[in-house]
Amino acid sequence: MLEQNFEKTTDIGKPDRSASGFQFPMKYPNLSEEKLFELRNIITKRGSASQTKTAYQDAVLFFIRSNAFRGDNVVEVGCYKGGLTVQYAYLCQQLGKKLHVIDYDKELLEETKKLVYELGYGNVASFYNMDYESFVSSESFPQNTIATIIDADHSYAGCLKDCNTLKKVLPSMYGVIFHDFTLRYTTWDGVGVDKAIYEVFGQHVRLYPIGFQSVCSETPTPEGAYLESNEGVIMVVPWQPADVFAQKEPPSKLRQWLVRTPILGPLLAKCCNMTDK
Ligand SMILES: C[S@@+](CC[C@H](N)C(=O)[O-])C[C@H]1O[C@@H](n2cnc3c(N)ncnc32)[C@H](O)[C@@H]1O
Repeated sequence: MLEQNFEKTTDIGKPDRSASGFQFPMKYPNLSEEKLFELRNIITKRGSASQTKTAYQDAVLFFIRSNAFRGDNVVEVGCYKGGLTVQYAYLCQQLGKKLHVIDYDKELLEETKKLVYELGYGNVASFYNMDYESFVSSESFPQNTIATIIDADHSYAGCLKDCNTLKKVLPSMYGVIFHDFTLRYTTWDGVGVDKAIYEVFGQHVRLYPIGFQSVCSETPTPEGAYLESNEGVIMVVPWQPADVFAQKEPPSKLRQWLVRTPILGPLLAKCCNMTDK
């Protein structure tokens, strides 16, 4: 059964066995695996699919869903053709959150916007034709963000600029997700998302690896790009475990009611654990 789920969530046609094997969490009723599968098929057919690994995509969606109670907004920096944007928009609609999409390329942003509207998620998304620094200085910058997902300028200098901007507004968000963490080029040493993050946030920054994990040298793409180790990282903003774990998702009304019912209550609440979130 598990193997079947793995096949289903990690392919769009072909299984992606190189990914980390992240098992999609089935227990969240408002994050349907079938719907994601359908969306991923639509965007693949339209040539808008994200180049990120399915394991990375699943991990980002899982992070947003599990931490949804921590904020009202999701921010995507760098949308390309909207392959991930539509998935974030779907999740935001399910959760009643707002999605802010930023890209400095007008055409790509327009293409993404069209796709999001066509698929019926336009009501939850806002689009900004600018870079992250300008967005942070704008009136639209949201104060309580679940996650800021950065997949934009992968050069050391470009990512350094984004990280310095992020540093100023860190208290307004719970998580920051970086794609292409250890991207390298055989012919260019100006790339360096990881180097920029360590430079700005320090060597001891709390980073959780997600997506593809390289265990030996990858074959570079025709452009000479390869991942030295892992594809993405999640940076959880409260640095201390006590701060991370202190805040808990409030129990649902059903659970609260069940727990208050004598004798049967605790037993029933325990049984409902899987369907409650
Ligand atoms: C790698 S693509 C993003 C891929 C996308 N996340 C996906 O999964 O399909 C990078 C995107 O970031 C945008 N970008 C690059 N540098 C940027 C910057 N400094 N500010 C805003 N957008 C930027 C590019 O126009 C491009 O659309």
